Amino acid sequence: MEIIICPNEGRVGQVAAAKIAKIAAEVGPGVVLGVATGSSPLSTYDGLAKLLAAGKLDLSQASAFALDEYVGLADGHPESYREVIRRTVTEPLGLDPSRVHVPDGSLHGLASAGERYEKAIVAAGGVDVQILGIGTNGHVGFNEPTSSLSSRTRVKMLTQNTRQDNARFFASLDDVPRHCITQGLGTIMAARHVVLVATGEAKADAVGRLVEGPVTAMCPASVLQMHQFATIVVDEAAAGHLALADYYKQAFENLPAWQALDLA
Ligand code: F6R
Repeated sequence: MEIIICPNEGRVGQVAAAKIAKIAAEVGPGVVLGVATGSSPLSTYDGLAKLLAAGKLDLSQASAFALDEYVGLADGHPESYREVIRRTVTEPLGLDPSRVHVPDGSLHGLASAGERYEKAIVAAGGVDVQILGIGTNGHVGFNEPTSSLSSRTRVKMLTQNTRQDNARFFASLDDVPRHCITQGLGTIMAARHVVLVATGEAKADAVGRLVEGPVTAMCPASVLQMHQFATIVVDEAAAGHLALADYYKQAFENLPAWQALDLA
């Protein structure tokens, strides 16, 4: 696991975008991105948009797969992840909308939606780089505590903690859906690289458990300790519980040339 501690949120986005761009350059313009919603990856999407504008990134043939979707929101609901991904990813990064996929959270066909999504990911050749945030309870995607570490895309019930965290996007807590469809932890682990971003003190406990705690379904993100190419990019506040913070900083400052990121 590679842990990168940055002075602020803007730098988190710049570093995460540089890491994703490095992977995309190795894969080529047909790179398959895994994309997250929520506040955490917004600075990363900004960073990617800047690299595109500077001609340092080519996403002309890229595909994208969202992590998750609420169940039962009306078509076109502004907080449906289909809409959030359109506003924050597809349009700013100029992706071809026909190559951007979001799990189907409509009630019709829900029973087969997970299997269909898994097949679509396989048909695209698998995810090259998965962008992740982390919930205050350690979830990734909407894999809440006690999710199977080898789970695949399926319907889950959101915890009250997550519904409260996400109530800021809705008129009231009652409006936050109770169910979602989410890539599983096994699905996320099948991505070739993962880049998780987290900022702010509210994430410090979850980040500490993810990086330095035991691998346990009680902190679903901790499964990333088993991933061969996982990069965790956090600001100082989110790094607040990391016992080995100095070691991670020294490691990043002394990266061998072939691993260094273009942060110009
Ligand atoms: C989003 C997702 C979630 C969020 C997490 C953090 O698609 O799957 O795991 O990444 O809830 O949300 P923010 O970034 O809003 O704190």
